[in-house]
Parts: sequence; C-alpha cells; structure tokens
Amino acid sequence: MSHTLTESRKATYLEDLKTLLRIPSVSTDPNRKDEVKRCADEVARQMKEAGLQEVEIISTPGHPVVYGEYKTDPDAPTALVYGHYDVQPEDPIELWTSPPFEPTLRDGKLFARGATDDKGQFLCHIKAVASMLEEEKTLPLNLKFIIEGEEEIGSPHLAPFLEAHKEKLAADVLVVSDSAMYAPDQPSIVYGLRGLAYLQIDLKGADSDLHSGVFGGAVPNPALELARILAQLKDQDEKVTVPGFYDKVEDMSVQERQAYAALGFDPEEFRAGVGVKQLTPEKGYNALEGRTARPTLEVNGLLSGYTGEGAKTVLPAKAMAKISCRLVPNQEPDEIARLLEAHIQKICHPSMECKVTRMHGGHPWITPPDHPALEAAAEAVRAVFNKEPVRIREGGSIPIVIDFQKILGLPGILLGYGLNDENLHAPNEHFRVENFYKGIEISKELFRALAKSQSLAG
Ligand code: BES
Ligand code: MN
Ligand code: MN
Repeated sequence: MSHTLTESRKATYLEDLKTLLRIPSVSTDPNRKDEVKRCADEVARQMKEAGLQEVEIISTPGHPVVYGEYKTDPDAPTALVYGHYDVQPEDPIELWTSPPFEPTLRDGKLFARGATDDKGQFLCHIKAVASMLEEEKTLPLNLKFIIEGEEEIGSPHLAPFLEAHKEKLAADVLVVSDSAMYAPDQPSIVYGLRGLAYLQIDLKGADSDLHSGVFGGAVPNPALELARILAQLKDQDEKVTVPGFYDKVEDMSVQERQAYAALGFDPEEFRAGVGVKQLTPEKGYNALEGRTARPTLEVNGLLSGYTGEGAKTVLPAKAMAKISCRLVPNQEPDEIARLLEAHIQKICHPSMECKVTRMHGGHPWITPPDHPALEAAAEAVRAVFNKEPVRIREGGSIPIVIDFQKILGLPGILLGYGLNDENLHAPNEHFRVENFYKGIEISKELFRALAKSQSLAG
C-alpha cells in the first residue's frame, strides 16, 4: 500500500485547511455567531466534496453540528468520527507573530487559531475519505462524521443531540483526533482524559473603590483576601487542600506507573520546553504523571484593582478569580465543585461578600490501554511510522467522549496528530504541516484496519 499523497493533492488539502482557518469560529463569542455558522457551512462543503453522503448542518439551541456519512455495506463495521470546528478566542492578539485568522506558513508549521485544535486534526479524516474515494472509488467501512461547534464551551448541546439521534448515530467505535502525539515522531494512543470542574469566585468588600491611604488599615481588601483564599487551596506538596478532594481518586496502578516510566520521560527537557525555572508536580509523582493522571487545581484568571500603567493608590471594592480543577477517575465534577464551593465559603473572611459561581464541568474518561479497539489504531501507526505507538493518558478534557460511551455504547479511539507544544489556546497556535499529511495517511490506514478488525465484528 502506498503511503504518500501526491504533491498536488497535498497542496489542495492544505489550501482547504487554510480556508477553514480563515473563519474565526470562536464559539464563546456571541458576536461571532455568524462566523461559526459560516465555518459549519465550509466543513459541510468539504465533506460533500470529499464524497461523504447525506451531509447536513443540524441546528441545535447553540451552534450547529455538521453531519455526514458514507454507507458501504451494512455488515461492515461503522466508525463514528468526532471533531470540533469551533476555536478558542485569539486574545491576547498583540502576541501573535502573524494574524490569528490569516494562516501563515513558517518552518513547516501552519500558524492560525484552530490549526492544531482542532481544524487541522479533524480535517485529516475528511481528506482521508477524499483521497481513498479518489483512489479506490469506495471505502472499506461505514463512516459517520459529527463535527461540532461547541467543544470549547463544554459541548452544552451535544449530549442531548446524541440522545435524540441514537439510531442515526449507531456505530461500533468512536474515532477522535483532538489530542497530541507523545513526540514529533512518536504518535500516541490516548486512553484517558481528565475531567473538569470550573468555578468563578467574586469577592466584594466596600461599596466602592476607595482611597487606599484614607481607608487602608481599616477597611478589608478583597484582592488580598482573594489571594489568601487561593494560596490556601494547595499546600507545599502541591496537594489540593479541599477536604474530600482525593476521596474518590483512583491512584495509578503499579503497572501503569511502570508503563509510564518506560516512556523515558525527561523532566529537564520538559522544563526547558515550557521555560519555567522549576517544575511543581504533586509530591510523589513526576511531571508527566502530574499533568495526565493526577487531579489538580489551577487559577485561570485574576482581576482586581488597578492594573494599568503606573501606580494608583486604590483600595479595590471587588476581586474576581476563575479557577478550575482537572479531575481523574472516579471524581465527579458536580461533587468536586460542591466541595470546593463549600470550602471557599468556609475559609473566606467574614468581612467579605463571597459569591461562587459554577461554570462548566466534565467527567474524566478512561479505557483499558489494552482495549482491543485500540489495536486498529496501533496498526495504522505502525503502517505509517514504522513504530509502535505510545499509550498514555492526556491532561486535557474532551467531556463528550464519555457521553459517546454512555449514550451510544462506543469505545473510543483517541489518536491525535497535534503536539502539546503547538500553542493550543495560546498565541501563535500552529500545526506541523508534515503531521497534517501523515495524519491523513494514518486515518486511511485506520479505516482499513478498522474494516478488518476482529474486535468490531458482530
Ligand atoms: N483538544 C482539547 C483537549 C485536549 C488537549 C486533549 C490536549 C488532549 C490533549 C480540547 O479542545 C479542549 O481544549 N478542551 C477543553 C474542554 C473545556 C473547554 C470543557 C479543555 O481541556 O480545557
Ligand atoms: Mn480540541
Ligand atoms: Mn481546545
């Protein structure tokens, strides 16, 4: 089997990716609703052009879902491919070297918001269909595509969508490319994702900002109180201090830790890569374990007082923080949010009005690393990279993966073509063009391997 796309096909596929990347489909921004819709239209256009059938844009109470399918033979296995065409906001825009929605090639990398998360990745599957249908006129398996527009805001309307379309979406396996390879030349199969519990804390002191000289020393400072609260949420061992936080955590098994150790993770290289002076994983775990298989708490944003140029002697009336916990099996997002909220209310000084607002959450997901469905992914990686894929958990969240498992009974294959150093959610997001082409080849091999997979038969 030849594993190389012709140069002319590569060029057209890349142009099509650039077309998608020019559309600012920022799902969280109400002003971009029409752009999100325009992006759905473009995804549908490319699906049709690839040769997918029954392509439709299905509206939801939020942003639309793009659906497409290819029916080959009712007795052949069916894979459901999931991805998301929505992206994170581009800000802070001044830190981008080239404009976020003008895809630009530099050093073999395509820079644009959404390049690696997830437009460049899900497109691999659509272009794999295009290229297989051109070469072979048919596909060896049945395919269904769901490319949604609300992943980056927690997929609020997708679980009801799955419930409502159970029959239509019936399949044997879920395929997702929305994660990272272990290293540039080392694909990985992801068998676990962390969950999420997200909260906002609002503290209010005085009725108005005050002169810090006239009132300081008598009136409580919400910025300082917020700092005290936040500083208490983790201890010196980097353990989360919220009572009950670890109660349901399933610790890594000895076996799993051995498998992790065999990956030859180099903390020093990782440290240098992120440019930090020192790493701070939870005590007893290394940084790889800490960022993928252990729960944690992070401050995502802070706002209070004067933050402009120069100095202003002000005693702020308000302070706000956004915080989130990444969760591992068997932590429950609602329960963790409740514990956290109660703890914050308890430790907050009585001089403050303290409001805690729960934002989105998501369940952690895990599947046995030796699940038979993953063998097809391993085969596809071997065919293109000539090596065994790494099996690892990832630290990010794709909350809908567990719903595909619960609602549609689908085992998940998470095989990503991105890399964690590609600035996802950050300025200068990019995707290695080489991995776009390799991803297309892996997807084709994956379709072939799934078509003859024993684990999916019957
Ligand atoms: N693709 C990411 C998640 C991811 C990143 C998985 C890297 C594995 C490796 C996804 O688009 C994402 O950003 N998810 C959000 C979920 C949230 C908005 C509910 C996340 O993890 O913050
Ligand atoms: Mn993503
Ligand atoms: Mn994302």
